[in-house]
Amino acid sequence: MSDDDARSLTEREKQAAARAAATLVQDGMLVGLGTGSTVAYLLPALAERGVRIRCVSTSPRTEEAARALGLATEAFGDIDRFDIAIDGADQIAPDGWLVKGGGAAHTREKVVAAAADRFVVIADSSKTVERITAPIPLELLSFGLAATRRRIGATTLRDVPLSPDGGVIADYVGDVVDPAAEAARLSAVPGLVDHGLFPPALVADIIVARGAEIEH
Ligand code: 5RP
Repeated sequence: MSDDDARSLTEREKQAAARAAATLVQDGMLVGLGTGSTVAYLLPALAERGVRIRCVSTSPRTEEAARALGLATEAFGDIDRFDIAIDGADQIAPDGWLVKGGGAAHTREKVVAAAADRFVVIADSSKTVERITAPIPLELLSFGLAATRRRIGATTLRDVPLSPDGGVIADYVGDVVDPAAEAARLSAVPGLVDHGLFPPALVADIIVARGAEIEH
């Protein structure tokens, strides 16, 4: 398969996974919207369904795209739960562990996923992996940044703007032997706002498109 063919297959898979997830959204639902190129296919699929929903976005990028499509978005504010949240992923392991944050939105994405009755992950087949590996996205406080990075171990800083919440975006690039242990270790580092390891307990459904097949 040529590079162009592989790229267009990936795009078709992203769209298929996104369209499958859109069918789970019903009138009247409060919906958390993730961030990324797969979610970019979800938004028009939701708009096309014509369902009356209230949405909260996990990034300015998603917010802008959702509004342009006429989806009713609002601030997280007083909303304390979602009926459903739908988002992409960078890695999906067989035991359900995820890596998210390729688009640097993992902190907000985790807050939204945790507030959702049903957190649905949508992905093309390239995202399924045998085991979780680095890089693991990080959001760090700028206060004490060098000390925080020293405590974490091998990290690289991304050349991207601060997060909407003022966090520095970095990646942990050391070994990941056990995602649960690594998630616990990272969460215990003062100055680390959040990391991109998402535990299986957070995830209700994983929808992966592989060629013409949809795997749940
Ligand atoms: C953004 C994310 C994305 O969901 C993840 O990076 C997947 O992105 P894409 O759908 O573009 O492959 O976690 O922070």
